[in-house]
Amino acid sequence: MILLLGATGYIGEAFAKELERRKKKFVPLSRRQVDYTRFDRLLEFLRANQPAFVLNAAGFTGKPNVDACELDKAGTLLGNTLLPQTIAHACVAAGIPWGHVSSGCIYSGAKISEPGKVRVEKDLAKPELHALAEKKSPAILGFTEADTPNFSFRDQPCSFYSGTKALGEEAIAGIGQSYIWRLRIPFDEFDNKRNYLSKVQRYPKVYENVNSISHRADYVSACLDLWERRAPFGIYNVTNPGYVTTRHVVDLIEKHLKPARKFEFWQNDEEFYKVAAKTPRSNCVMDASKLLAAGVKIRGVEEALEHALKNWKPE
Ligand SMILES: NC(=O)c1ccc[n+]([C@@H]2O[C@H](COP(=O)([O-])OP(=O)(O)OC[C@H]3O[C@@H](n4cnc5c(N)ncnc54)[C@H](OP(=O)(O)O)[C@@H]3O)[C@@H](O)[C@H]2O)c1
Repeated sequence: MILLLGATGYIGEAFAKELERRKKKFVPLSRRQVDYTRFDRLLEFLRANQPAFVLNAAGFTGKPNVDACELDKAGTLLGNTLLPQTIAHACVAAGIPWGHVSSGCIYSGAKISEPGKVRVEKDLAKPELHALAEKKSPAILGFTEADTPNFSFRDQPCSFYSGTKALGEEAIAGIGQSYIWRLRIPFDEFDNKRNYLSKVQRYPKVYENVNSISHRADYVSACLDLWERRAPFGIYNVTNPGYVTTRHVVDLIEKHLKPARKFEFWQNDEEFYKVAAKTPRSNCVMDASKLLAAGVKIRGVEEALEHALKNWKPE
């Protein structure tokens, strides 16, 4: 049996759906039933029920966006740092391997390959770098699992949310047997206020940047594949290989969904942060080659985006 924590959430429900599709026996556990944020309660549950694997899709995401985390720092720290640490210790005490949903938002920018060196560039909105991204230049490299997070409390500025996600990874590193699965900007074909494609359609103005993104069903499937293949434990970037500019996403929305509205973009960061956002946003390119090298199949970002928009299910 697999124990699924956070099954009521946006990502947890996708895990539940995929586990059902695979006909895997699993128990979705909510804090309402057992307060799994408490070490003693969780350990008692693990010892009594002996799951073969624990999936942690629980955590604190600000709603409607990360700015909300700045207003509940204690809740954010509890959900994203202390909870994974509690689960890690309970799982090691019960001798159970587990997987943790982390985030790619602990990085900003990309690595830029130049003659004789590779440098980190935090701001891909700079015109010369954006131009490289638009033409999918091979000079733009994603962050790998070996790269130290650069959008964290240790490398500021960062949002409080990102800081707690990076700290969460640190808190569980080296404890027991675990996967850290980094998700990045979930999207799919189901219109939902949590879906990136829905968000882009509903923003009064759109923020232009460059990002790797994760199709929700592809993400949960890849995570479960890693476990089922018994891939080595550790960190995996679980994004659809590649990256997109927001402009390109808008072009695809216009092409497939033909919305009545005309999309407008914020002129620059200054206007965006003055009017629409408070805390700094992570925008970054991730390298998914470790996932692919583990033998997991996942569609490229273009294919996943086209598929989601061709099969769009309005709310
Ligand atoms: N959605 C995204 O854009 C995104 C992107 C990257 C990474 N992630 C990560 O994915 C994980 C799941 O996110 P989600 O979008 O599915 O979140 P969500 O929809 O808010 O669901 C999270 C679930 O976690 C449980 N939970 C346990 N402790 C919590 C706490 N202190 N505060 C709030 N909820 C708590 C709740 O379930 P019960 O109360 O029923 O147990 C809740 O339903 C998080 O770790 C998040 O950081 C999300």
